[in-house]
Amino acid sequence: MTDPAIRSLAPLRAFITDLTQLLDEHPTEPRILDQGGQMLATLVARDDWLPEAFAQPHPDHYQQMLLHCDSAERFSVVSFVWGPGQRTPIHDHTVWGLIGMLRGAEYSQPYVRDAEGRPLPHGKPRRLEPGHVEAVSPTVGDIHRVHNAYDDRVSISIHVYGANIGGVRRHVYTESGESKSFISGYSNAFLPNPWDRSKG
Ligand code: FE2
Repeated sequence: MTDPAIRSLAPLRAFITDLTQLLDEHPTEPRILDQGGQMLATLVARDDWLPEAFAQPHPDHYQQMLLHCDSAERFSVVSFVWGPGQRTPIHDHTVWGLIGMLRGAEYSQPYVRDAEGRPLPHGKPRRLEPGHVEAVSPTVGDIHRVHNAYDDRVSISIHVYGANIGGVRRHVYTESGESKSFISGYSNAFLPNPWDRSKG
């Protein structure tokens, strides 16, 4: 294994610059999900770039590690580190999101709300394997619950959202339809540095 300290972040840098260029063209959401999804698929097709500091699970809950936030807060890139068996509540995003599986596997169960606001499972859970990408948004389906497919190992997915997601007010839902707003924040105080081109 390469020393994590000298692991090249060139793939992350390329993803950031490519997505920035795409957003500079003011694309429609379908184009962002399509072309941005292809960019994310390229990023998660290889698992040799994420620094170890951003791949560490927490024993009690999943970690949301910010990797990059666009200076205009048009998008953010987050490493989700799932400890064995860890899961989210049922939640929404309120902005477009792309989820790329980097390591391990996870299940995402989509929900739709009924007339009383209760979240009902919509279709079967989707299993994401390394290299897979799925999309969420208020237009393509925004409510889901995610869990690590494994009870005995860490899984990691790389998420991209159409905002500074850690600062967005959104919602969790109970099975009975009660909703509660929340702002997730992030698990990390420091970001990786993909801009040192002497490292590759
Ligand atoms: Fe989510």
